Amino acid sequence: MPNIVIVGIQWGDEGKGKIVDLLADHADIIVRFQGGNNAGHTLVVDDKKIILHLIPSGILHPDKLCIIGNGVVVDPEVLIEEIESLRGQGFFPDDAMLRVSSEAHLIMPYHKLIDHAREAKNAKGKIGTTGRGIGPAYEDKATRVGIRMCDLANPGFLKERIESALAERNFLLTRYFDQSPVDPREVFDRLMALSEKITQYIADIPAILASRIARGASVMFEGAQGTLLDIDHGTFPYVTSSHTVAGCAATGAGIGPTMIDAVYGISKAYTTRVGGGPFPTELFDDIGRCLQEKGTEFGATTGRKRRCGWFDAVAAQHSVRVNSLSGIIMTKLDVLSGLSSLMICTGYEVDGRLIDEFPSDIPTLDRVVPRYIELPGFKDDIGKARDYSDLPDNARNYIDKIEELLAVPVTMISVGAERTQTIIRRHPFAP
Ligand code: GDP
Ligand code: IMO
Ligand code: MG
Repeated sequence: MPNIVIVGIQWGDEGKGKIVDLLADHADIIVRFQGGNNAGHTLVVDDKKIILHLIPSGILHPDKLCIIGNGVVVDPEVLIEEIESLRGQGFFPDDAMLRVSSEAHLIMPYHKLIDHAREAKNAKGKIGTTGRGIGPAYEDKATRVGIRMCDLANPGFLKERIESALAERNFLLTRYFDQSPVDPREVFDRLMALSEKITQYIADIPAILASRIARGASVMFEGAQGTLLDIDHGTFPYVTSSHTVAGCAATGAGIGPTMIDAVYGISKAYTTRVGGGPFPTELFDDIGRCLQEKGTEFGATTGRKRRCGWFDAVAAQHSVRVNSLSGIIMTKLDVLSGLSSLMICTGYEVDGRLIDEFPSDIPTLDRVVPRYIELPGFKDDIGKARDYSDLPDNARNYIDKIEELLAVPVTMISVGAERTQTIIRRHPFAP
């Protein structure tokens, strides 16, 4: 059975949670490999809505193993809350269903304070982060003062690590951000109390994956955020602090790239973005408001209104390339019904010149003028479509055009938030 990677190809919230939950049926193991609880993945099952921030979206299936890989930054408070919330809703019956990498870094209380203080101090140029401490946690990993899951087993060592991290971080908090210092003792005591509930999940993930794959297990790697939020390939600096692209599934889980058989990119039928940064096809008119309302476009983590716009084939082509996509899974096609015409951005005009590559610098991205093609819209409610032939001609025409522009097949189409509201043209786990 194949091992597949699922990534978002826009600015996040493409519907990864719904698709991973649906496909989890066919996988044995589901792995989160980057990001943290900045993610909000929504699953709708029998009218019940479950939002996961940290635990992989396979957790509703009792016979699956869910893994939080080394590339994820884990807030231990959130992990425990999420476990308890799932239990309260009757899910996650067995502790053996979840394993967390011993190499994963922890989000510490001071990371959240720095995240907030930095955004407040930099009000004009702020990124619009989720405030979950993601950036500062990855910073500490890169500067090698981060705290890891495996440190919980060595209290003396952990205490020293917290003291040494805080020696620098407190200087920043007090002298630059005018905040109160954080007491290393309090941080240590709280973490030791939390660690009692977490240590049972900590494991050697590369060893588990290698042995399970060797015995024929099929793994699905669940991306968080989206390609345009990748720290290198996204709209830097308006990005998150991890690699969100498919290649990171290998480094963030502890497998080699030869283990990956296929990569599927999730894309909305239009585009949304939450937080600051360039968004060439953003709409500020009634159509934008209509997408926002009909698509109930509110952030699953922060509740912020999502900015909405047309499908951007220039940005999508960039994502196709940096992820080497095998196929596209298109979500929220139902939201477009009722619009008289549908626009697709096929090029950008910059200073009177037409370009078809996605620029890497913000000053250029800020002044690109999108060039559109116009396609006829469709009126019918498509929420009950289960086969490609059930879709109206104009909806199929829209998808065919996107396939042609991206030169990648659209293999699945989602027409509603429920698991069943999906058209499968080619199953990602089909041999
Ligand atoms: P993720 O972060 O990529 O998992 O996406 P989010 O959960 O943040 O946002 C996607 C939203 O769209 C959620 O509220 C989903 O329930 C919803 N959703 C997913 N697929 C569809 C679809 O095909 N149609 C509609 N109307 N809603 C969908
Ligand atoms: P899922 O997995 C949408 C955005 C934030 C901000 C930027 C940096 O649900 O698709 P951070 O807190 O990561 O430092 O914020 O990234 N962002 C997301 N936007 N979906 C997400 O996750 C996001 N995670 C982070 O809004 O612009
Ligand atoms: Mg989300």
